[in-house]
Amino acid sequence: MKNPKIKAFVFDAYGTLFDVHSVIEKCNELFPGKGENISGIWRQKQLEYSFLRQLMGRYSTFLEITRDALRYACKEGGAELTGETENQLIDAYLELQHYDETEEVLKKLESYKTAIFSNGSFDMLSPLVDQSPFGPLLDEVLSVDDVKQFKPTPMAYQHVLDRLGVRREEVLFMSSNTWDIAGAASFGFHTAWINRQGKEMDELGVKPDYEYNDLRGLLEHAQ
Ligand code: LAC
Repeated sequence: MKNPKIKAFVFDAYGTLFDVHSVIEKCNELFPGKGENISGIWRQKQLEYSFLRQLMGRYSTFLEITRDALRYACKEGGAELTGETENQLIDAYLELQHYDETEEVLKKLESYKTAIFSNGSFDMLSPLVDQSPFGPLLDEVLSVDDVKQFKPTPMAYQHVLDRLGVRREEVLFMSSNTWDIAGAASFGFHTAWINRQGKEMDELGVKPDYEYNDLRGLLEHAQ
């Protein structure tokens, strides 16, 4: 049911607007038959390292973490990574496929504030947004790199309020990542879980306000 207080629609990037597993093709090209396993370990370790570095107070950019996670994934996945193949896979991460419905949804949100808010650093986000058809439709691209605090910490989500000049109850936050939805809900945003793979919500003491299987569902909150 439409929520009249919403003034800003804010989107997580990886998994929500961009398909992190679109690198499987490149992984399989370089390491035949090992791509799916390496991509899965890569994403798991990328997130794990961001959480652990936040807890340790050892912030590093998400691009550096993504590179570290790739190195681990290839070791565990039994693939021999060279400087060349590492750079090819990192480049693939800067060219992830976007989800098809994104442009049509953002076009219908033109009378609202719209932003990406990501753990990704700008050296990762800018290439993705610039290559997408919907870059000009976004008012802001926000990165935790401006505050050096990763999601799901409250300090990270506070950056959205500071930059967009809205109150937390005026934000509808979209993410496909349950930990990100839990963090945003805990902070006080309205939350829409974009549950693309039909997963179960994590048991973190908070639930999303809304659940959709792609971005189109959120349009029930637009004029
Ligand atoms: C993002 C990743 C971590 O913040 O989902 O875009």
